[in-house]
Amino acid sequence: MIFAILNGKLIERNQAKMDIEDRGYQFGDGVYEVIRVYNGKMFTLQEHLERFERSTKSIGVSLPYTMDQLKSLLLELVEKNNLRLGIIYMQITRGVAPRNHAFPEENVEPTLVAYTREMTRPKDELQTGVKTILTEDIRWLRCDIKSLNLLGNILAKQKAVEHGCFEAIQHRGQNVTEGSSSNIFMVKNGIVITHESNHLILKGITKDVILGLCSASGIPVNERAFTLKELAEADEVFLSSTVAEVMPIIEVEGKVVGNGEPGSITRKIQELFVNEIEKQCGAL
Ligand code: PDD
Repeated sequence: MIFAILNGKLIERNQAKMDIEDRGYQFGDGVYEVIRVYNGKMFTLQEHLERFERSTKSIGVSLPYTMDQLKSLLLELVEKNNLRLGIIYMQITRGVAPRNHAFPEENVEPTLVAYTREMTRPKDELQTGVKTILTEDIRWLRCDIKSLNLLGNILAKQKAVEHGCFEAIQHRGQNVTEGSSSNIFMVKNGIVITHESNHLILKGITKDVILGLCSASGIPVNERAFTLKELAEADEVFLSSTVAEVMPIIEVEGKVVGNGEPGSITRKIQELFVNEIEKQCGAL
């Protein structure tokens, strides 16, 4: 039997039902997290919980659980579902109320949902690298909030898929922001460059782990916006996310990156990242 969490209770996944006037369903009025599970252990759990809390605060939803309560609920969920390798999806919405754009007046309980899915690591792609396209970033100006409103991201990803690509690299004018569901990095002359974590991108947990690993291993990093022209002239390009880890990019918009193979700094960062996973969660 597979379980899910609905409003603080572990229930059968098939029994988890939402009201049609839940504000997450109607307005995308909520925030979410995706957490990786390796060997039955949650990777960077604390960081995800902290970002979840930040996201809820930024939309004025108060979390009805302490961080410790949330942590034990997720632990119980992973254990009950006997999840070894996969993800936890967790979201909270402003709750159920008669449809009205403004926040509900009376105190409405937020709706919290969490469930797990088995998911393997993208081993082949991590080895060979992936292709990407470019697309204008049409999203709002609070991309730092991990909001349920993902239409801009969805349209970007669909365009990538229709072009036989793994990811769409978004740009605002000449500046690269991030992927549809990942952060984007380029390497030039041995320096790793990635957009600063401001309102234009999501502050990726994987991105922050990578930045920490680079700084600990003496790989120079420059956290700043870079242009499409710089991207076209990059020695190496890669993306990062909870599900894709450190993924080499070997093609951007039909143009080969470097010599068409994952670069040496990307390989080094992949190795450091796997070591970090193994440190937290055991051998892969
Ligand atoms: N997406 N940028 C965007 C727009 C994202 O949606 C994600 C993650 C990231 C990477 O963040 P992290 O390293 O914390 O996963 C960056 C998740 C995985 C998703 O929506 O499925």
